[in-house]
Amino acid sequence: SQRTFSIIKPDAVRKGYTAAILAEIEKAGFKIVAIKKIGLTKEQAEGFYYVHAARPFFGELTTFMSSGTIVPMVLEKDNAIADLRTLMGATDPAKADEGTIRKKYASSIGENAIHGSDAEDTAAFEIGYFFAGYELK
Ligand code: CMP
Repeated sequence: SQRTFSIIKPDAVRKGYTAAILAEIEKAGFKIVAIKKIGLTKEQAEGFYYVHAARPFFGELTTFMSSGTIVPMVLEKDNAIADLRTLMGATDPAKADEGTIRKKYASSIGENAIHGSDAEDTAAFEIGYFFAGYELK
């Protein structure tokens, strides 16, 4: 089996969708290996999204991600990285398939409810950014 990293973003936490999104994740067969509720500083958000530093939306993205409580977590199942991205739906909720988390809970391409790692190397970086080894039993 495989691990991936996910964040319930500030828009979804503010709207009270945390438990509903966690239920979708568990229903889809993911084991929640580690989870917490925290707030990021702007600098911590910039560190997490450093691969997007040159993008025009970097400022907007990191301001949003430091605007409120987030729920980072480590998830595990067979094919976790690809299966979570399928469950999330397209980055832009307007293009997301019916039944996906972004279709149900996201409002825009920037405020899109949930993050999921896109590859094994990014998953490893992202898990290590938020969780220590002793939290990942
Ligand atoms: P995420 O998977 O967390 O990783 C990068 C994020 O950038 C992505 O989700 C989107 O929420 C965000 N993003 C992508 N394109 C845009 C855009 N055009 N404007 C604002 N945010 C964007």
